Amino acid sequence: MTLIDKTILFVKQQLQHAEGGHDWFHIERVYKNAILISQEEVCDVTVVKLGSLLHDIADSKFHDGDEEIGPKIARTFLESENVSEEIIDHVVQIIKNISFKGGNFEKTFSSKELEIVQDADRLDALGAIGIARAFNYGGYRNQQLYNPLIAPKLDMTKEEYKKNLSPTLNHFYEKLLLLKNKMNTKTGKKLAQERHRFMETFLSQFYAEWEGEK
Ligand code: ADP
Ligand code: NI
Repeated sequence: MTLIDKTILFVKQQLQHAEGGHDWFHIERVYKNAILISQEEVCDVTVVKLGSLLHDIADSKFHDGDEEIGPKIARTFLESENVSEEIIDHVVQIIKNISFKGGNFEKTFSSKELEIVQDADRLDALGAIGIARAFNYGGYRNQQLYNPLIAPKLDMTKEEYKKNLSPTLNHFYEKLLLLKNKMNTKTGKKLAQERHRFMETFLSQFYAEWEGEK
């Protein structure tokens, strides 16, 4: 079995009981889009594959906010497979730096491979899948669908963003509609543009239905 096949098995088994937005199928979508994006870029495809497969191996939201847990699990796995220290370091940096958590997140590392995996992960927060994931997450946290009296909060700190329980429609203005301008790669930008338009169509239909048929 190749290293990638072993990693796929490991991730599937680790995520057996993960919630719907971060389950194996999320990883599979990100993995496929990361490979697609990488075809137009000069990069190390092994790092892109390992980074996308391992990027959500443990979510700090479900481990008392411990942000070191994912990188630790990934490192231990890759060490057990005798992967070179250079690749392990790179994959761990990708896992640590991938997330967009509100406006004040400080990036401490950059590479083409990180840009690719980040774009692939962001694409899964956009479009039809992105809408489904947002309402799934909002339901899990018992957020309202929409409340015309509660305005979106822009410029939240990382801590405020994590605690924020405002209605799920606000999340579109707080994060999802901002992503298209943050994409790193050519392919990522193009796909984000299409998914962005679909979300705009969704929002206008949502408001029209909210007002009731006339
Ligand atoms: P990532 O997996 O990229 O680190 P998150 O864990 O923040 O992102 O979010 C996972 C999914 O849940 C994404 O699709 C995101 O849009 C959605 N989500 C995150 N926060 C909220 C929120 N406050 N309300 C609704 N959906 C959310
Ligand atoms: Ni993800």
